[in-house]
Amino acid sequence: MRKITHRLAALALLLGAAAGPAMAAGDAPAPIDKSWPHEGMFGTYDRAALQRGFQVYQSVCQGCHGLDYIAFRNLEALGYDAEEVKAIAAQYTVVDGPDDQGEMFERPGRPSDRKPAPYPNDAAAAAANGGKAPPDLSLITKARVSGEDYVYSLLVGYEEAPAGFEVSEGGYYNKYFPGHVIAMPPPLYPEGVTYDDGTTASVEQMAADVTQFLAWAAEPKLEARKQTGLKVMLFLIVAAGLLYAYKRRIWSRIH
Ligand code: HEC
Repeated sequence: MRKITHRLAALALLLGAAAGPAMAAGDAPAPIDKSWPHEGMFGTYDRAALQRGFQVYQSVCQGCHGLDYIAFRNLEALGYDAEEVKAIAAQYTVVDGPDDQGEMFERPGRPSDRKPAPYPNDAAAAAANGGKAPPDLSLITKARVSGEDYVYSLLVGYEEAPAGFEVSEGGYYNKYFPGHVIAMPPPLYPEGVTYDDGTTASVEQMAADVTQFLAWAAEPKLEARKQTGLKVMLFLIVAAGLLYAYKRRIWSRIH
């Protein structure tokens, strides 16, 4: 009897392990394989794209999605100067305090503030969005398999549901979302944003720009990390060469 229970338990574990990833992936197709300027060993962020992406985030996404880990002063990395960052921060209202009377109060944002969240808590966020809280986007490109490619595909992946596919109430059909029914209404429409630099705001353009901005938010130090990596490689190559020359010199006396 014990043996049978053990075997059953093992079988259940195996089945669970097999079903887990398959169910998590749903029947969504692989995301579009897009090439990104910050990809690869020498890749760096495209500052103009990051600024456009921030514009898309500000005018479209921030009403629903927080970006908790980003303080306004971090935006200097996108190429804004200190004055511009000050002006951006001042567009937001943040809660500060308590003051001398023990009261919390509101004031315009300062560069050292983090970006305020759109909802006071997850329950409020879920209640306002058909039961699904919009996730914080600070680390979203790291939190999903295929990172940038997935986020981009999701944003351009809204389409008519195929005939016979039942889209549940409050849901929208998206080709790339696991299970295809997402609680996020299609956020991007052509010309939905007027870019400061005059770029034409097609859905693909906005999706690519905001995705690059989110990739930066998730890894602001990517360029420094790659530079350090390259320096270390260079050092190792030079050190290996020196050691080899040294070894030959020492052994030449013995042969
Ligand atoms: C009207 C509110 C709303 C707006 C505007 C909005 N989203 Fe969402 N978003 C949601 C909700 C709700 C979810 C959770 C969907 C779910 O789990 O079904 C979500 C989920 C997501 C996800 C995660 C998908 C996943 O795999 O779990 C990403 C990425 C995302 N949104 C990106 C964006 C971007 C980028 C923008 C701006 C271009 C944006 N959203 C604008 C409400 C919104």
